[in-house]
Amino acid sequence: MIVLGIESSCDETAAAIVQDGTKILSSIVASQVDIHHKYGGVVPELASRMHIEAITPVVDEAVKKAAIKLEDIDGVAATRGPGLIGALLVGFSFAKSFAWARHLPFAGVNHLEAHIYSLFLMEKKPDFPFIALVVSGGHTNIYYVTSYDNFELMGQTRDDAAGEAFDKVAKMMGLGYPGGPIIEELAKTKDPAVISFPRTLLEKHSFDFSFSGLKSSVARYIHDNTVSTQDEKAQVAASFQEAVIDVLSEKLIHAALYKKCNRIGLSGGVSANKTFVTKLSRKASGKNIHIFAPPADLCGDNAAMIAARGYAMIQQGSLCHLDHDVFSRTKID
Ligand code: KG4
Ligand code: ZN
Repeated sequence: MIVLGIESSCDETAAAIVQDGTKILSSIVASQVDIHHKYGGVVPELASRMHIEAITPVVDEAVKKAAIKLEDIDGVAATRGPGLIGALLVGFSFAKSFAWARHLPFAGVNHLEAHIYSLFLMEKKPDFPFIALVVSGGHTNIYYVTSYDNFELMGQTRDDAAGEAFDKVAKMMGLGYPGGPIIEELAKTKDPAVISFPRTLLEKHSFDFSFSGLKSSVARYIHDNTVSTQDEKAQVAASFQEAVIDVLSEKLIHAALYKKCNRIGLSGGVSANKTFVTKLSRKASGKNIHIFAPPADLCGDNAAMIAARGYAMIQQGSLCHLDHDVFSRTKID
């Protein structure tokens, strides 16, 4: 079965063609980063307008690159939420119309479930059960995944998402958007132990996160010290990044030990951070826990993961109809 997947929940317009839920025939991502860069974050109205301009060429390109004809598509999937309503509406309405016009089944996909499905697009997939982290600009959630449809939410952020903290710290230092890759690159040159930023671990047996204290602590440091040269910014970047990595790693390993599970799967934009994956893998290997991390193009928002999740939903008959709408916020459990 060939599924066309469409993603437009935030600032990426993406389309992908995936065969049988696992084989990526094409995956096209048109990023709006250059447009939002100067504002230091995503401007929702601009995002919606850019999606409208990009959606048709991006779908065309995905079909062309997959070397298929429109008639070869057996099903359609699009992100239904969570995300920016105006942005979601563009991809969801396009996909709905496409499916309706061609009499195809249509699945409205939960973006967070789709991030977890990016792990099933890897050559070496985690067996069930496993601990999954969805860590992006909007979410920092830990799930216990026992099957293709069972995601038990163990913990989530009580304030900022980890990616949001990267973006805000980068903005404080005038480094641009998105902050994650810029901070990771700068941090490479410095010893993270030089500045000690707080690690908020909350209650002992909680799997929740809180990154707002860390963010405020970085803001205070920047206010009280001179942080103007690239060198000074790199030091803050390294020490901040290390604090985030320590908290994510601690909670993930704790969750795996708690569930007596020796597999952890990472997903979402922040999982593209190689320093994080390397440090977590080192810590986990001492406890005989294996880390599964998708390649960078599957970590960030993409439509292959939407098609993969959509394929499973279509197989189960979990379909959307013409009167179904998008949603801005939700959790999966
Ligand atoms: O999953 P994603 O592409 O979109 C959302 O669903 O939010 O994640 C985007 C987030 C941004 O906050 C970005 O700064 C962060 O992922 N990110 C990173 C890295 N690459 C992207 N954070 C840390 N290190 C990176 N290398
Ligand atoms: Zn995402």
